[in-house]
Amino acid sequence: MPTPELLQALDQRRSVPSKQLRAPGPDDDTLLHMLQSASRVPDHGKLVPFRFIRIQGDARQAMGDLLANRTLQKDPVAPASVVDKDRGRFSDAPLIITVVANLKPGHKVPLQEQWLTAGSVCFALLQAAQAYGFGAQWLTGWAATDPVINAALDLGPDERIAGFIHIGTAVMEAPERERPDAAALLTDWHGQP
Ligand SMILES: Cc1cc2nc3c(=O)[nH]c(=O)nc-3n(C[C@H](O)[C@H](O)[C@H](O)COP(=O)(O)O)c2cc1C
Repeated sequence: MPTPELLQALDQRRSVPSKQLRAPGPDDDTLLHMLQSASRVPDHGKLVPFRFIRIQGDARQAMGDLLANRTLQKDPVAPASVVDKDRGRFSDAPLIITVVANLKPGHKVPLQEQWLTAGSVCFALLQAAQAYGFGAQWLTGWAATDPVINAALDLGPDERIAGFIHIGTAVMEAPERERPDAAALLTDWHGQP
């Protein structure tokens, strides 16, 4: 028997833009439950190719300052609007969970599959946040692949950022967007002629 609440949650899932997220975020117990739910992903080889880095409180502004300084380092004449945008990127939501893909190169499970598991964690965390009544958005942006930012977050050589999951209380109803028509994406394979 399908669980109507579960289907409803899946059918109504949507992101809340990080700019529309404010305190309160989840308390520590709630967050741990959310992370536990998000860790329950399909995982070929049971490699657990992911971990979490929490950014909250003053660390958010520290990250914003880091981004702004990095932008100026790359482009000393970067417009103030660009630098200010970077400085504010982690300021809206009260909590950002960095989902780190902790990859095992050389393992028989291909890196692509390990990477998919880390991505599944990000999506499951969005769902867990929404189930608790919070809004959330999965963001990457340039910071996710920047070597200086990765080093500042103490990422190892085989670690990559799968996403920054911004979590908080939505200040307004999240905008809906047009969704793909699954029926139009579906084809049947009937075997080779
Ligand atoms: C891997 C990944 C990275 C993303 N990074 C960004 C980003 O840096 N900036 C952005 O505006 N949206 C980004 N998005 C899109 C948002 O997470 C989100 O999908 C979008 O706001 C639409 O909302 P929806 O989840 O309700 O479809 C990213 C999505 C994925 C899957």
